[in-house]
Parts: sequence; C-alpha cells; structure tokens
Amino acid sequence: MAIREILTVPHEGLKRKARQVTDFGSELQTLIDDMLETMRDAPGSGLAATQVGVLQRVFIAEFGDEEDEEIPPKLYIIVNPEITRKSKETISGIEGCLSVPEFVGEVERAEAVTIKGQNRHGQKMKLKASGWLARIFQHEVDHLDGVVFLDRAEKIYSLEELQSEEMAGEISSVNPTEIG
Ligand code: NI
Repeated sequence: MAIREILTVPHEGLKRKARQVTDFGSELQTLIDDMLETMRDAPGSGLAATQVGVLQRVFIAEFGDEEDEEIPPKLYIIVNPEITRKSKETISGIEGCLSVPEFVGEVERAEAVTIKGQNRHGQKMKLKASGWLARIFQHEVDHLDGVVFLDRAEKIYSLEELQSEEMAGEISSVNPTEIG
C-alpha cells in the first residue's frame, strides 16, 4: 500500500469525468488499497479516485454512526456508483474537501439517497443512506463527475472566517474534516 498525492484545486484533473470501471483486477485492488491508506492518513471520511488522479469511477468512505460514537466507523468501497434516488427533502450543511484545503462551503444536498454500484470484486450492491453519510456519497459521486463542492456552494468560507462566524453563532458548529 502507498499514500498517493491528493490533487487540489485548481488542478484540471479534478474537473474531468471518470470512466466506468470494467476491469476488477489487481490494478483496481491496488488503487483501492492505496486510496484507503491515503484517506486515513489525510485524514478524511471519503475519497474519490479522481482526487488521486485516476479517472475510474470508484470512491471510498469511512463513517461512524452519527448518534452513537461507540460504534466503530463503517467502511464503504463503491465502484461504478450511481445515485438512483434522492429525497425531495434537502438539507444545508458545511462541507470540506481534501482537494480544497483552507475553505469550506455551505452546500444543499438531498437528505437521503439510494446508491447502486458494485463492490471491489464486481458484485452488485445497493445502499440507502441518510444524513451525513448521504452527504458524503453525494460529494464523492460529484468528484467522479468532475464537480467539487465549490461549484455547488451557496456560501464559501475560509477556515478562519468559519471560526469567527461560528463564534458569532451565525452558523452551526461543524467539523470540516468530515468529508473527503
Ligand atoms: Ni472532496
């Protein structure tokens, strides 16, 4: 396993659309293992292949239960993800991104999603997610389509501004490292 370099804006590679994965061989397995190590090292709670300069439709996410910190984080590895359903209900939240250091943004996302895809060995899977996990999934699928949160944000804050805004009580407290 190896830690790979995470591209940051305005790198052109982050604007490119990733291709469907068709080969589930050793190259993909190495990519996924490296992405895991890279995400955990960063640290972040999600990482798309686009962010390490590989235009293949695969992302990973690692996220614990929002209600119960005792439950260990769960790892998601999703190849060829497709969001097949989005709730009508949306929610605004402050997102960070490993490819956008120093800034966070307020982004409106569907509160719940259904995502279909394949596991690392090509077996089909389908998941339902809500809350912060649904936000991570939407953020990572965006990366695979060449979209970063800056393209969707209603407001963008520097981390410095965020801290002062938080102190002023204008926006709810957030942990911007919660997304990759
Ligand atoms: Ni990101």
